[in-house]
Amino acid sequence: MNFDRHRRLRRTANMRDMVRETHLHKEDLIYPIFVVEKDDVRKEVPSMKGVHQISLNLLKEELDEVAALGIKSVIFFGVPNEKDEVGSGAYHDHGIVQEACRLSKAHHPDLLVILDTCLCEYTDHGHCGLIDPDTEDVDNDSTLPLLVRTAVSQARAGADIIAPSNMMDGFVTEIRRGLDENGFRHIPIMSYGIKYASKFYGPFRDAAESTPSFGDRRTYQMDPANRLEALRELESDEIEGADMMIVKPALSYLDIIRDVRNHSDLPVVAYNVSGEYAMTRTAIDMGLVDEEVIIEQMVSMKRAGADLIITYFAKDICKKIDRGEV
Ligand code: PBG
Repeated sequence: MNFDRHRRLRRTANMRDMVRETHLHKEDLIYPIFVVEKDDVRKEVPSMKGVHQISLNLLKEELDEVAALGIKSVIFFGVPNEKDEVGSGAYHDHGIVQEACRLSKAHHPDLLVILDTCLCEYTDHGHCGLIDPDTEDVDNDSTLPLLVRTAVSQARAGADIIAPSNMMDGFVTEIRRGLDENGFRHIPIMSYGIKYASKFYGPFRDAAESTPSFGDRRTYQMDPANRLEALRELESDEIEGADMMIVKPALSYLDIIRDVRNHSDLPVVAYNVSGEYAMTRTAIDMGLVDEEVIIEQMVSMKRAGADLIITYFAKDICKKIDRGEV
């Protein structure tokens, strides 16, 4: 018999561990938290079982748990009490995520805080920038200064990393310049430059209360059918000075993660978005698939080339790691 015996390396658990190519660690995980401005709220998001909107006054408890589990970084999303046409809550020095960041830094100074730089959670129309009344579309260049103000106020609140997700052209250049001019040369930009106009964001928009009141985001987010366009976005973000690149969503875009990995030396971040979480969580809860699929999904993102994963499963994964199941 003359054939390869691939099964030799699969014979025992220790043998399989020895030749495993991809590993998942706690430091790979970034945990998203939705912070609400109202007091005393800890409300499960109906479309995302296990994920809560949490008030600022209850946030310390949540962060204590996150830190105890060994999660090393969080990203905050804000649910403000009031929204307006120009998203002023996004760049208010005492805005909701700015305050969440200060509180986090006061209690857990080492926990890395990433803040999402976008206006959609703060505009009454739910779009990521200012609306041009003539075209009824988001206006790129007049939005940029507001994004810069947002990023600078986030850095001033102590954010370790600025993560702009608005998809306006030139946002990395402008935010980099704004951060540098305000004494934040040392703060990295994790760019969500490769962000598709995806239906997988549905549950997030429930959680962040940021569904657009008219139209959609297809004039600024990318067409899911495109692959080369991702490389053009990557190239301009690298030239503009991005320090890390997010690909979003993740699971239906593993080919894009691989492309970015092959074309860039920057750390690559996979955003395992709300719809992906909701689908997996629901299937597990219904008993359709085993909970192990969570790890399989995470490993697939890393195998595709991701260094880091933003995931609502971060706590579950840390618990599994602690139980020796990963
Ligand atoms: C803000 C933002 C969105 C997500 C992250 N940042 C929503 C959107 O673009 O509509 C989605 C994340 C998720 O679905 O988990 N622009």
